[in-house]
Amino acid sequence: MQNNSYNAKVSNEILEKFSNLIKILDDESNSIPSIAKRAFNFKGRKSENIALKVLDYISTPESKICDPFMGSGSFVFASSMLGRETVGIELDNYTYNVIKTLHSKIDYDKLELMFQEIKSEIFNDVMYLYKTHCCGEVNYIKTLYFDPVSQEYFNPQPHREIVDGKNVKLYYKCPVCEDTSKTFSTEDEQKLSEVNSLDTSRFPDHELITNSRINITSSTGADRYDRNFSNRNKYALLLIQDKISSLPDCIEKDFIQHALVSALTLSKITQYGSSSDILYHVIQNKAQDMNVWYLFESKYNNMVAYNKYYCEQSPDKETLLSFANIMNGDYSTILSQPKFNQYFDVIYTDPPYTDQVPYLERNQLYRDWLFNFSDKNQFQLSKQMLDEEIVVTNAPSRREKDIKNYYESIDKMFSIFSKIIKTNGTVAFTLNLGKKKFFETFSKFIDFARKNGFEYIYRIDLAKNDPTLRKQSAWRDTLSTEMLIFFIKLDEDKAYWYKDDRNIELELGKLIYNQILKNNGITLTTAYKEVSRKILNKQVEDLTENEINRIRGLISEQFIIDPRTSMIYVDPDKLYLSIEDNTTLFNKLYDIVPILINNLLEKWGSFTLDDLYFEISSKVCNGDPNILAQILEDPSREKYIVNLIENYCNTDEKSSYTRKTRVSASPTEDAIDISMLDGYSFENVLKDLLTSEGFINVIRIGGAGDRGVDLRAKKINPQTGELEGYIFQAKRWIGNVGGEPIQRLHSMMVQYSAEIQHAICITTSDYTEHGKREAKSTGVEIVNGEELIERLNTAFPGKYYHGLLDFHNN
Ligand SMILES: C[S@@+](CC[C@H](N)C(=O)[O-])C[C@H]1O[C@@H](n2cnc3c(N)ncnc32)[C@H](O)[C@@H]1O
Ligand SMILES: [Zn+2]
Repeated sequence: MQNNSYNAKVSNEILEKFSNLIKILDDESNSIPSIAKRAFNFKGRKSENIALKVLDYISTPESKICDPFMGSGSFVFASSMLGRETVGIELDNYTYNVIKTLHSKIDYDKLELMFQEIKSEIFNDVMYLYKTHCCGEVNYIKTLYFDPVSQEYFNPQPHREIVDGKNVKLYYKCPVCEDTSKTFSTEDEQKLSEVNSLDTSRFPDHELITNSRINITSSTGADRYDRNFSNRNKYALLLIQDKISSLPDCIEKDFIQHALVSALTLSKITQYGSSSDILYHVIQNKAQDMNVWYLFESKYNNMVAYNKYYCEQSPDKETLLSFANIMNGDYSTILSQPKFNQYFDVIYTDPPYTDQVPYLERNQLYRDWLFNFSDKNQFQLSKQMLDEEIVVTNAPSRREKDIKNYYESIDKMFSIFSKIIKTNGTVAFTLNLGKKKFFETFSKFIDFARKNGFEYIYRIDLAKNDPTLRKQSAWRDTLSTEMLIFFIKLDEDKAYWYKDDRNIELELGKLIYNQILKNNGITLTTAYKEVSRKILNKQVEDLTENEINRIRGLISEQFIIDPRTSMIYVDPDKLYLSIEDNTTLFNKLYDIVPILINNLLEKWGSFTLDDLYFEISSKVCNGDPNILAQILEDPSREKYIVNLIENYCNTDEKSSYTRKTRVSASPTEDAIDISMLDGYSFENVLKDLLTSEGFINVIRIGGAGDRGVDLRAKKINPQTGELEGYIFQAKRWIGNVGGEPIQRLHSMMVQYSAEIQHAICITTSDYTEHGKREAKSTGVEIVNGEELIERLNTAFPGKYYHGLLDFHNN
């Protein structure tokens, strides 16, 4: 149950290095630079400053760094700012292209001249479409608020954007009334019918690939490109596009082109106050329609600011693309090139997760525009791309993009990573998921990582923007929705033992476990025979020394080997994940929960359910959250756990738990709740009790040896004056004790009948009917929780109480 036993494969040096990361990020906020948001809105953009700090810490100037799922490029450019040789790959041709253009070396004078040329030629024509008056003065509509379905322009639904019924935002502040908005007028109504009759038949009107996840469906009406725009804005967009198309080809033209494309999101009819994120939706009411020129010019300015800022951040003051080699295509195809074999020191990435947007569909708005007006070859959406994208979607046109397919992709991803990364290289992922998804996905990631030669080593909570909070919650192991997790590529001889898809370590565990159950323990020699025959398909004589060592190592990791007899036993305190059935696992776990609750209360004073889950995952499941994923599958189990917590704790509005103040019974303030003690402390309490009751030579028997016995002692029989031997089994349990532990105690007593005359089982809970019957027929004495607490109170008045007795009686 040691916290770090699962890291036996990784050196302490490495573990320590990573555990310092939390300090490195101490005063770093997890935020997105607004300059990036304003220039180019990318769903799922990640913090570049966190990446900067982490990469600076885990890499050296010589390191080669890769982000195979580049997206908006946050990680690629953080790495480039450090001057590291960086490779970034992105499948989506639109995303790739806009990123490349935004980071290109631009001739600013030339760019500005081109932009002004467009402006001088068409500004008036575009603005004419939005022309209006306020207080008799000419002005232009900047935003119009209305209800499209009822065609209601005069009385749109109220909203904070509409003060005093003024549903037209003005381009210029009115020089007379000094207001920036006005009410919709008959002039505006006439303008509407004028712009609605303009010919926009050239505007793209093709069908989009539907995807209900992002509202592109026939029921939203958003499945046809043109339906998302007002006729006025279609006309305005065409005017600007025609002008851009007439410019000579150069990077500056591309730049301006991207400014227009970036303005498309808000050029659509969107929801009141939208700052762009709803990409597709035909709005029923509370819609806003914005001035296209205004959007275009703002985007242009923001993009210029972005370009200047990032070029300035480059170590060569030229462009970050001097350090980042960015490529468009499927990551696996590109990284399979021989030159990338064992090439990278660090992979820092944010792969698509199960709940993420289908980027290719999402970007249809932009890509299709470019396909239509710019470069057919470059901006095609091919069937192949749709197949290559890692995504989970049930969109009708995306075949086989289900969860099973997704996990196959993740397995393949780790296998590719293991080829391109050096030994001891780091893979860092940002993981952004809800609780249940988190455990499921996290455990799958660990599984595939191990299969492909990696080991999970560290995680950091990034959800809190406030670094102090983050630090606190990282220490507290709080499960949060955004975190950074790290894997390390193991030395080949330390890697998990897989043969093809077969996890040898797991198979070995299952085999040995079942053999032990069947034979009441087996010898090491038998184990070698079984494993070689049944798992490795060879004779035991043919095992290599390496294999023998590995088998022995794995057995001692998972089981208890008696040093005297070389017999192997099941470790009763261990959860045999994927070996024992869920009910057995849950019952074992359930018994441990009070200890963990107590730990949390002692450490932090309060905790949340998530805190408890993380405590379980790191303390009990050796960092492998698999067990929790399994448990959470059944909602009634969570209920059990919550009930248990509520027995010990009060809860507040923020759903955090604090220790219940005891109303009655407990005589002293710092009395100890025996139901929350860990096994070791519980045995010590019993040892003290027995000693004070006149037993002598009371010894704890932990670890290997006589399984099923926790304490031994001697006591004089007052009738005979003889010294008699006792063995005790201690069960700090919640569930009632059944017949099996009683039988085991009995057989020990029989086996050592020369020295042992009494066997006693002591539990904090009670006994099942079967348990009681067994006790009667075998002569094993039994003590339940109520009797125990009575005896403790006699021996040590006020020192102990039993926090579960009431709960138990319910
Ligand atoms: C979550 S985003 C990355 C976000 C990025 N870290 C950022 O800060 O902007 C994942 C990206 O992976 C891309 N992607 C999906 N499948 C891919 C594949 N097979 N090859 C390369 N890129 C892929 C998606 O297009 C998407 O842009
Ligand atoms: Zn006015």
